[in-house]
Amino acid sequence: MADAQKILGVIDKCVNPDRFREQHWEGSFEDYLNLVSKKPQIARNAFQRMYNMIMHFGSKRYTQLREELVHYNFFDDPLNNGVDGIFGLDKPLMHLVDFFKSAAHSYGTERRILLLHGPVGSSKSTIARLLKKGLEHYAALGEGALYSFSWHVTDEDGNSTVCPCPMHEEPLKLIPLEARDAVLETLNADLAEASRIRIEGPLDPLCRHIYEELLVKYDGDWKKVLSHVRVHRVILSEKDRVGIGTFQPKDEKNQDSTELTGDINYRKIAEYGTDSDPRAFNFDGELNIANRGMVEFIEVLKLDVAFLYDLLGASQEHLIKPKKFAQTHIDEVILGHTNEPEYKKLQSNELMEAFRDRTIKIDIPYNTRLDDEIAIYTKDFNKERIRGIHIAPHTIEVAAMWAVMTRLEEPKKAGLTLMQKLKLYNGKNIPNFTEESVRELRDEAPREGMEGISPRYVQDKLSNALVSDHAVQQKCINPFMVMNELENGLSHHSLLNDKDTKARYRELLTAACEEYEDIIKSEVQRAISADEDAIGRLCSNYIENVRAYTQHEKVRNKYTGKDEEPDERLMRSIEEKIDIPESRKDDFRQEIMNYIGALSLDGKKFEYHTNARLQKALELKLFEDQRDTIKLKNVVSGVVDDETQAKIDVVKQRLIKHFGYNETSATDVLNYVASIFARGDTKESVS
Ligand SMILES: Nc1ncnc2c1ncn2[C@@H]1O[C@H](COP(=O)(O)OP(=O)(O)OP(=O)(O)O)[C@@H](O)[C@H]1O
Ligand SMILES: [Mg+2]
Repeated sequence: MADAQKILGVIDKCVNPDRFREQHWEGSFEDYLNLVSKKPQIARNAFQRMYNMIMHFGSKRYTQLREELVHYNFFDDPLNNGVDGIFGLDKPLMHLVDFFKSAAHSYGTERRILLLHGPVGSSKSTIARLLKKGLEHYAALGEGALYSFSWHVTDEDGNSTVCPCPMHEEPLKLIPLEARDAVLETLNADLAEASRIRIEGPLDPLCRHIYEELLVKYDGDWKKVLSHVRVHRVILSEKDRVGIGTFQPKDEKNQDSTELTGDINYRKIAEYGTDSDPRAFNFDGELNIANRGMVEFIEVLKLDVAFLYDLLGASQEHLIKPKKFAQTHIDEVILGHTNEPEYKKLQSNELMEAFRDRTIKIDIPYNTRLDDEIAIYTKDFNKERIRGIHIAPHTIEVAAMWAVMTRLEEPKKAGLTLMQKLKLYNGKNIPNFTEESVRELRDEAPREGMEGISPRYVQDKLSNALVSDHAVQQKCINPFMVMNELENGLSHHSLLNDKDTKARYRELLTAACEEYEDIIKSEVQRAISADEDAIGRLCSNYIENVRAYTQHEKVRNKYTGKDEEPDERLMRSIEEKIDIPESRKDDFRQEIMNYIGALSLDGKKFEYHTNARLQKALELKLFEDQRDTIKLKNVVSGVVDDETQAKIDVVKQRLIKHFGYNETSATDVLNYVASIFARGDTKESVS
């Protein structure tokens, strides 16, 4: 019994009867007027509501490359634990939010179609989905509430019927046109510009019909007419086709305007005698049902020409024309999307000119920042979601690196490689490049991100790699397996017909592979030299010599007890690892001593890992000293004595502990790095 009580208690906590009552609020027209005068925002139009919905989730301002940007939290998909979160597109999303902001102020964009345009797989549909879900959520909250009404009437036979407004219109539209301005003036008296209530256009044909019939019945007494009205909350729901619509053009020849603006209900024609009686019409086209919210047009440019004109009217005049009826006013955000190839195809088309003129096109490009691209893939391919198969470190990074490189233009600046450009864009410091030069690079390539490999392609290849026999046997995938998949897929990539591009993408895979080799070489080096005691000893040895050198003293040799000159060779062998030239060595040594001095003034002791540059130099030096004792090259030949094996095992454990490898991937990486050294690769120190 106690258990049942407990469970009931849990349910009680989750189910909120107040919210239920609020969401099922019903009242007379007068009750609604009371609500509106307390909370005028319930009568906002669709653009105002959309803008407020996005702002409801908050935003953060930040500066990137000396540019002020805003990040709108809504696009992190907080409603769904980030499943549809958008990464790295703050700038286009700012344009998108500005569109809604300006529309909310009625500055004109509310009379335009919003067109998301970009290469395939750049998250256009994801953004549309977010907006739809956001609206559903917001409308269910008190802050986002909206209302509509039903007619309660008695027919000729005395049966009482309830007839809901088919387009869930705002109840204030029931106010006779001649009185509307005066009412709005009262309501708007204390409201800021962006929140002003704007009620436009007459009622839909069905409501107008009922209204007028009742007006005749009551001899013009509109109060009596309104006594037949019951106002209720509207819960926006795509599933229930309330306030949210989606239209996807199918076969071009099969498009029919009824899908957009509703159709005659043939069964009811017999009942009402004529097809121009609004009661014999279903106002259930996508544009009808989306009233008060938004409608999404998937691949909008695939729409039949006649449809496109319908759409232009719908956005420009906010009017649609159902068959046989007068134009009907709508209040909804119209969002279309199209991909770059489709848009290009129609560029020379005459209709497109009219279309372009009436749309606000927002480019949604691919990411050009590596970290953002990595974030897309980590969302789906991470330890929590992929159980039982280990993803070796850098697997996703290398795939993302390649994807981003395919989107970048070759830098015009001499001496800058594409990989370096990628790193600069990713916020890495490269000598001689400032934020200003990164901006210049961006400015000289404005179309960057509008072409290249789509995240979808990479996602597909990552999944292929995960289900491959090799992955299943080894319970592990690594960058090479993924790069193979990426490369193999290129030959039958449906959107890639041109040979040169394919060749370029293959070259970029090689570049990504080289970068990967550098990364793992440096990682193995660090694992080999991650012997803290040894580094500590090397460090104190170095510092002792530097101290003696800067103070023109001698160093006591621990074994012989004799005073000797500072060991120049040792000091230089460390400093050279981080490119300190002979001419700068005095400065560098002095800097180190000053640093130690400053620390000791604060009562702190110097430790090598507080100075990143020195630490790197020490690690590289130690690696050089130890590489030969570990005989990494022997790993390749398989002839390893027990002592070496023991050392290799220590390194492997460090790779596992500090760098995220598992047994298999650590062994792979050690073997691979050993083979690089066996190749006699001279580029041993890696920056
Ligand atoms: N910037 C991004 N942030 C997060 N995810 C992204 C981003 N870009 C692409 N994606 C992911 O890529 C996939 C494709 O996205 P989506 O289907 O929204 O693209 P689209 O632009 O509608 O493509 P298409 O033009 O082919 O219809 C999705 O899994 C999406 O999450
Ligand atoms: Mg899409």
